[in-house]
Amino acid sequence: MQLDANDPVEFRRVLARYATGVVVVSVNAKGVDHAMTANSFTSVSLEPPLVLVCVDRRARFHDAVLGQQHWAVSILGGRSRDAASWFATRGRPLRGQFTGYRTTRGEVSGALMLDDAMGRMECRTEAVHPGGDHEILLGRVVSLDLREDDKAPASPLIYYRHGFRSPAPD
Ligand SMILES: Cc1cc2nc3c(=O)[nH]c(=O)nc-3n(C[C@H](O)[C@H](O)[C@H](O)COP(=O)(O)O)c2cc1C
Repeated sequence: MQLDANDPVEFRRVLARYATGVVVVSVNAKGVDHAMTANSFTSVSLEPPLVLVCVDRRARFHDAVLGQQHWAVSILGGRSRDAASWFATRGRPLRGQFTGYRTTRGEVSGALMLDDAMGRMECRTEAVHPGGDHEILLGRVVSLDLREDDKAPASPLIYYRHGFRSPAPD
């Protein structure tokens, strides 16, 4: 079935066939803890360690993260659907948005990271590239944290066909 590449709805229909993981990106800006669900996160380079995330220019997270040097990433496990939905809710109150979630504040970034995450990292902004209605935030990874205890989530959270899924019970 041929679709129109310039129709955003049809573009999204095809993109929805691409399964991704889900992260929450976070930053502390002027004492406020900002965060946002993202699935555009990807690794870029091993040496040096680089990752990227594409940030919508209209998101409140956009201005917050561009004003700071450091930010953080929490990789969500299968049991974090609520967090993924909450941090994607447009217009949620900015202050106190982590209330009810167990968190750790990154030592380098000062950003809050989710304790239920499968893995976490802190990044220093290396470059910001234009990307249409988004900006591509390239980050140098400066700290890493992996959860491997008994209570760690066993399976990842997947975003596929506009919905959250998990490949195994968690
Ligand atoms: C699964 C999923 C993935 C998302 N990925 C991104 C992303 O990669 N970049 C982005 O800017 N917004 C992404 N969003 C949308 C943002 O999470 C949402 O617009 C943001 O939280 C709005 O917050 P604000 O009201 O503070 O601007 C995603 C939403 C969902 C549900």
